[in-house]
Amino acid sequence: MRVVFLGPPGAGKGTQARDLAREWGVPQIATGDILRQAVAAGTRLGREARDYMDRGALVPDEVIVGLVAERLGEPDAAGGFILDGFPRTVAQAEALERLLEETGQALDAVVYFEVSEPELVRRLTGRRVCRECQAAYHTVSAPPRREGTCDRCGGALYQREDDGEATVRTRLEVYTRQTAPLLERYRRRDLLTTVKGEGAIDEIRAAVRRAAEARR
Ligand code: AP5
Repeated sequence: MRVVFLGPPGAGKGTQARDLAREWGVPQIATGDILRQAVAAGTRLGREARDYMDRGALVPDEVIVGLVAERLGEPDAAGGFILDGFPRTVAQAEALERLLEETGQALDAVVYFEVSEPELVRRLTGRRVCRECQAAYHTVSAPPRREGTCDRCGGALYQREDDGEATVRTRLEVYTRQTAPLLERYRRRDLLTTVKGEGAIDEIRAAVRRAAEARR
């Protein structure tokens, strides 16, 4: 399964990618998670990316493309992957096409998560994330059993720097301007499949599974 999860910030890409990657036996390649790990570790990549991320802007294409190329070259990605949060610009989509072509691979599907803007703002401003396993919770709609603690691994939960309301608005604008044009690109290539991203998490997972597996 070689699939891209596409959608605005807060659409539920990460929530669904974590479980489906396990189910399909492929890695979840989440550029945002990779960047946040680099920021936490204080690496050169992290220092370079931090300012863009805190402002809600996109990290430059050449940095991201290099990072994804390296990750796709690891053995666990040879049999498939879920790309979560990449590509996000036309230049990134072009680079991905080149990378896959060079290795004789092709995407099976691009799953677009459709969610209304008020719901995105509600989800992001109430999100809490596990520092250890990156699982996402929501203070109202998906609270952990014990406040501040991850149900899965016992890690501490925190609020992301970029989940304050003003930065969330910036991220949504950046999405509309730079990422939404990819929908048309993938529609033209007959790769796009749209899933309604509002409702019960399990039902959305079933819809994503059906949509992606139908195109394998
Ligand atoms: P990234 O980490 O990729 O953030 P994002 O795309 O903005 O996506 P999110 O993680 O915010 O949302 P999601 O769709 O995964 O939703 P989630 O499942 O968590 O990127 C962060 C930054 O890194 C970027 O701004 C940029 O600076 C940089 N970056 C990353 N990739 C880049 C790239 N390719 N190029 C350039 N820069 C890049 O769910 C959200 C919340 O909703 C959670 O609280 C969850 O519990 C809840 N939820 C999920 N599903 C449901 C549901 N069905 N009902 C109710 N609540 C739900």
